[in-house]
Amino acid sequence: MTSLQKSALRRSLRERRRGLSVNAQRTASRNLDTQLRALPVLRSARNIALYLANDGEISPYTTLRRLSRMGKRCYLPCLRRTHLAFRSHRPGQTLRSNRFDIPEPAPRRGTDLPVAAMDVILLPLVGFDRKGNRLGMGGGFYDRTLARLSPMKRPLLIGLAHHCQEVEQLPVQSWDIPLDAVVTDKSVYWLKQRRRP
Ligand SMILES: Nc1ncnc2c1ncn2[C@@H]1O[C@H](COP(=O)(O)OP(=O)(O)OP(=O)(O)O)[C@@H](O)[C@H]1O
Ligand SMILES: [Mg+2]
Repeated sequence: MTSLQKSALRRSLRERRRGLSVNAQRTASRNLDTQLRALPVLRSARNIALYLANDGEISPYTTLRRLSRMGKRCYLPCLRRTHLAFRSHRPGQTLRSNRFDIPEPAPRRGTDLPVAAMDVILLPLVGFDRKGNRLGMGGGFYDRTLARLSPMKRPLLIGLAHHCQEVEQLPVQSWDIPLDAVVTDKSVYWLKQRRRP
């Protein structure tokens, strides 16, 4: 697949998720939480990174609220020049917009945690396939952030998606970090037996 075809694929998958109605998004977020609720790895996790939905991404906000109530430590990505940092967040705490106009937690003393200390990262995605390949927004931010860690020291990586974001086969590039699982509003796909807890 050429980079032109890759960007065309990105565009069409982004249009697809942005085309979902407000109601469909709300239902998807609830159904996603039902799928995530059943995962033992989230029950045993202490530090969990999520994200605030943007551009039609499936929203893990229902899950963020539930996990926070359970006393889990939840984190959101904060954009640095080339990488992501993870900062703790509880619903209701102050947010501010980053350079892509995506809200992120405002700086507070002692609230950043190194990526290696996350137990689970729930990642947004534009497209996924059943082999665990992930197509992101194209900035390479998750890839670069996760490349710093050796594969066995990586937090468990779970991509979150609307079921309509599945594609038969994604192009894979040397720097792409594969997912351990993908959870949609309808299904859970475990991808690497090696890392399945
Ligand atoms: N580990 C890395 N070191 C340096 N550059 C990287 C690394 N990983 C990715 N990149 C760069 O980032 C750019 C975008 O990568 P890619 O197309 O895989 O983005 P993506 O996976 O869709 O985005 P994201 O990870 O932000 O969701 C590529 O041009 C690539 O060169
Ligand atoms: Mg990538």
